[in-house]
Amino acid sequence: MKQTLDLYRREMEDFFTSCLQDESIPPSLAQAMRYSLMAGGKRIRPVLCLVWAEYFGRSRAETVPFAAGLELIHTYSLVHDDLPAMDDDAVRRGQPSNHVQHGEALAILAGDGLLTEAFALMLSAPLPSDQVRRAALDISHAAGPRGMVGGQVVDMGLSGGKEAELDELQTMHAMKTGAMIRSSCRAGAILGQAEDRDLDRVTRYGECIGLAFQVADDILDVVGEAEKIGKPVGSDLAMGKATYPALIGLEESRRLGQAMVQEALRAVQPFQGPQIDFLRDLAGYIMDRVE
Ligand code: IPE
Ligand code: IPE
Ligand code: MG
Ligand code: MG
Ligand code: MG
Repeated sequence: MKQTLDLYRREMEDFFTSCLQDESIPPSLAQAMRYSLMAGGKRIRPVLCLVWAEYFGRSRAETVPFAAGLELIHTYSLVHDDLPAMDDDAVRRGQPSNHVQHGEALAILAGDGLLTEAFALMLSAPLPSDQVRRAALDISHAAGPRGMVGGQVVDMGLSGGKEAELDELQTMHAMKTGAMIRSSCRAGAILGQAEDRDLDRVTRYGECIGLAFQVADDILDVVGEAEKIGKPVGSDLAMGKATYPALIGLEESRRLGQAMVQEALRAVQPFQGPQIDFLRDLAGYIMDRVE
């Protein structure tokens, strides 16, 4: 699985190398944008999009530019998430956070630039315009006020000392992290013209691994090693964040994450092929990281 993951990642990295190079971008801005984009990261969202599109018959070459847009959106969200006004984290992807390196103003604008450029990449993807339109619309819902941005707002509110209920926490996770992961899967399937019935299964898979992913991220904030995860450990606790471990403890969080992975596997049970084998392993890997 790791080898295949590296193969997909490499295709993305090659594409990112060619991004944001043109001289019409002010050099300081291009530098700040590339600083975070090229800093590594697991590239899970674009890989999910690539693999699902491939399962439904699209070549990787056709899907890479669209998938890249997902990583630009994700990268912008991390740059803004680390700002002093939000999580105030000084390290990201193993290096100083964007605002630490470039100052707050440029970090905010680099985030804005990444988000906007993402839609330019997605909308100019070399694929039939109807599918591109549908997939980009799906992503814009997931990234926006009803999805990730809304989830970040709930996150800030919940961290104000009020005890969160489990279902509120789940809604917040589904919005701030789950929505983009779910939509990354859906976008791949939409670009591959999946039938509605299949798209429902893809959606369920994405929803479940998206939730498991944030549960794992919360657990890693407690038990992870800073060098491995490339960001500080204990940041959530220091900020009094509403997280799964804080609310139900580590063991129960692990159990819940595993249950979500199992549910994701059930959703794709009727599908077969090398891409599906990979997607099954990838689902398992999310919780393996925190065992
Ligand atoms: C971290 O995302 C923030 C969350 C939404 C949980 P990732 O764990 O995908 O971060 P990178 O992209 O690998 O740095
Ligand atoms: C961030 O969640 C979710 C985003 C949409 C960026 P976290 O605040 O838990 O992410 P990390 O732990 O800083 O990567
Ligand atoms: Mg946060
Ligand atoms: Mg954070
Ligand atoms: Mg976190």
